[in-house]
Amino acid sequence: MSKQASSTTAFAPASIGNVSLGFDLLGAALKPVDGTQLGDTVTVSDASEDSLSVTGRFADKLPPEPEKNIVLQCLHFFREKMQAQGKTVPKLALALSKNLPIGSGLGSSASSIVAAFAALNSHFDSPFDQDTLLLMMGECEGRISGSIHYDNVAPSYLGGMTFMTGVESPVSLSLPLMKNWYWTVCYSGLSVSTSAAREILPKEVALKDALVFGKQLGVFVHALHQQDASLAAQMMHDVIAEPHRQKLLPGFAEARDAAKESGALAFGISGSGPTVFAVTDNEQNANEIAQWLRTHYVKNETGFSHVCRIPEHGIEIHQS
Ligand code: HSE
Repeated sequence: MSKQASSTTAFAPASIGNVSLGFDLLGAALKPVDGTQLGDTVTVSDASEDSLSVTGRFADKLPPEPEKNIVLQCLHFFREKMQAQGKTVPKLALALSKNLPIGSGLGSSASSIVAAFAALNSHFDSPFDQDTLLLMMGECEGRISGSIHYDNVAPSYLGGMTFMTGVESPVSLSLPLMKNWYWTVCYSGLSVSTSAAREILPKEVALKDALVFGKQLGVFVHALHQQDASLAAQMMHDVIAEPHRQKLLPGFAEARDAAKESGALAFGISGSGPTVFAVTDNEQNANEIAQWLRTHYVKNETGFSHVCRIPEHGIEIHQS
């Protein structure tokens, strides 16, 4: 098999899972307007032994044993899938720059997984197509979070706002973006494990909630296609997870009230939290909300807030 580069780097952006109204189905990539790189990076290089090095702001929050790191597990999985096609993956050195906080609700594990698979796939001249890669990413994400869901891996990989189909092809649909919307995100600095946040959800959904869930999704997708911001924003309520997860997020109700007072069109939990997000249609309100959240919602020095747009593209690849 031919390889073009000796080193391939992939950056995969942070993302909002669920986007309030689309539990496990809807996700959005994030790009801070101030140019901050909010996402993890994985570099794959030719080597004589497999290895993993980890750097970055949140490197010390990961298990020290390389074998427990999801990025090395992605390599093993990628190698198995290549072997199933009769192809060999030689020894590789992997380097993860862990820039997203763990258990933050910003798609931290998904970002590492997407960067790893995207770098590996590019390094070997793209043996897997987009849908196959997404299925592989979702499976790895499931190993960490306790169930397979694609609402972080898909937007991180593809960019934009993605909607999962539940079929093998296309795995994900890209929805139109509201052109004037800003997305303020705030990570409190606390950690919420996705598997724990899923454990507390009831196994059954009431009929009335199922009806609201279905109505909201249908109307929201229609409103995006019509660029009807008011209608779209009115659909952004979480009837599945937020009522049960709020108790894991100290200060959530106050943050929502303050954001609404500063002009937020919608407010919710990003993924399984504790990050929250607010949607506005102008940058000034978005900044005001970010400032309020930084002062009142952030609980320690690891917390932060960014005003973001949804980028049209997800991963960025560089080869050398
Ligand atoms: N859809 C997932 C959940 C996202 O809410 O559990 C986790 O980041």
